[in-house]
Amino acid sequence: MGTAQPSGEDDPRVEVGRSALESASSGGPAGTAHSHSRRHKIVQQRGSGNHLPTANGRSVPTLTDETSEPSSAELQALRRSCVRFLHSHGDRSVAAYLAEIPADAETDFYGMGGVVQELEDEVAQILGKAAVAFFPSGVMAQQIALRIHADRRGRRTVFFHPLCHMEQKELRAYEMLHALVGRPVGEPHRLITVGDLRGERWTGEPIAEVPAALLLELPQRDIGGQLPPWEELVDQVDWARGHGAAVHMDGARVWGCESFYGRALAEICERFDTVYVSFYKQLGGLAGAALAGPEDVVAEAKEWRRRHGGMLYGLWPNAASGLASLRTRLPRMAVYQEQALALAEAVRDLAAVEVLPDPPHTPMMHLLLRRDPGAVRTAALELAREERLWTFTRPASTEVPRVCRVELEVGDATLQWTPAEFRRILQRLLTD
Ligand SMILES: Cc1ncc(COP(=O)(O)O)c(C=O)c1O
Repeated sequence: MGTAQPSGEDDPRVEVGRSALESASSGGPAGTAHSHSRRHKIVQQRGSGNHLPTANGRSVPTLTDETSEPSSAELQALRRSCVRFLHSHGDRSVAAYLAEIPADAETDFYGMGGVVQELEDEVAQILGKAAVAFFPSGVMAQQIALRIHADRRGRRTVFFHPLCHMEQKELRAYEMLHALVGRPVGEPHRLITVGDLRGERWTGEPIAEVPAALLLELPQRDIGGQLPPWEELVDQVDWARGHGAAVHMDGARVWGCESFYGRALAEICERFDTVYVSFYKQLGGLAGAALAGPEDVVAEAKEWRRRHGGMLYGLWPNAASGLASLRTRLPRMAVYQEQALALAEAVRDLAAVEVLPDPPHTPMMHLLLRRDPGAVRTAALELAREERLWTFTRPASTEVPRVCRVELEVGDATLQWTPAEFRRILQRLLTD
């Protein structure tokens, strides 16, 4: 089965990526069900008028129109009516998020002191970096890191994977805000190799341009969370250093990389000048990110954070949530990883399923399903309506006709599923 472009689960908080290639091949929004005959419209209204009462107090929206695509509000209502979730940490309430924030967390003042400092210190220790700054978002943190690396070297070009977040989902901010030049290396459906850095893939000629920085995403989310072998990673880092370039890690999901490498996070991060990590993806906190690196780089990054409007009067709610999530869920990464392996094992023999990567390298994977995305979506919506299970309601089309891609990030919600249940769900999504 050919590889396809990235997708994501239907979680408004999980950003769904679609590459240019995928957009061109699908010709429409990922997962829309326009071609499928069985269609439900889920009507959401305030009050109980159009909702059926349920035992757990979550009402199930009624289905009234079999012909049109549910609106996002209707999808939200259906999602809220569900009692089990496959992806990540599931559908959590405001109360659940707030309950994780200790009442004695100390407030900060414009990002200084309090729980922000506490989080920064703890992350610095875990990642083995001299300094850390908390950021409202990874988008902000990474642009700033690369801007600083570029300014210091008097170069503008950043080498990165064609499907990295910065290239795919940030509206060319690196270019428009920081006058950086992106140079994708390698090919979209596989990891960068040191060979890609040494020679231009179309001409075979050595790459002449020397970059300001090499950006490596560990794991590479849009190809299922793949990781390069350690020796390959070291070679790439050495190549960058040999060319006077900085090495920056997009470590949005680096928390789950220890078991693949058999190395502690600090040892993995040691190879990189700067590392960005996220607190809301694998860790399940509120939005928030951190940039780790040398003291002078991080100090300069804090000034850029201010220029970007990221020096909020109080960053403590997000930082306190991030710190609590770090302490709770970082120790669970090995368990998430085991579950990823068990779930992959349970479905790899299904003819219509391909696990990517197989076995999963980290607590996430993509599944390539040999079925039209619209049909998978319709089946997932039926599952939500009939069994109140929220699964893969937004499969992405791929460049291969009738093959779609879904993403599974293993978290607390995923741990509630047995491999046999997971297999049944996939079979259900794959049959009429
Ligand atoms: C790999 C990767 N890098 C960077 C980001 C940006 O993070 P943030 O949402 O904190 O700006 C994301 C967000 O989904 C991501 O998946």
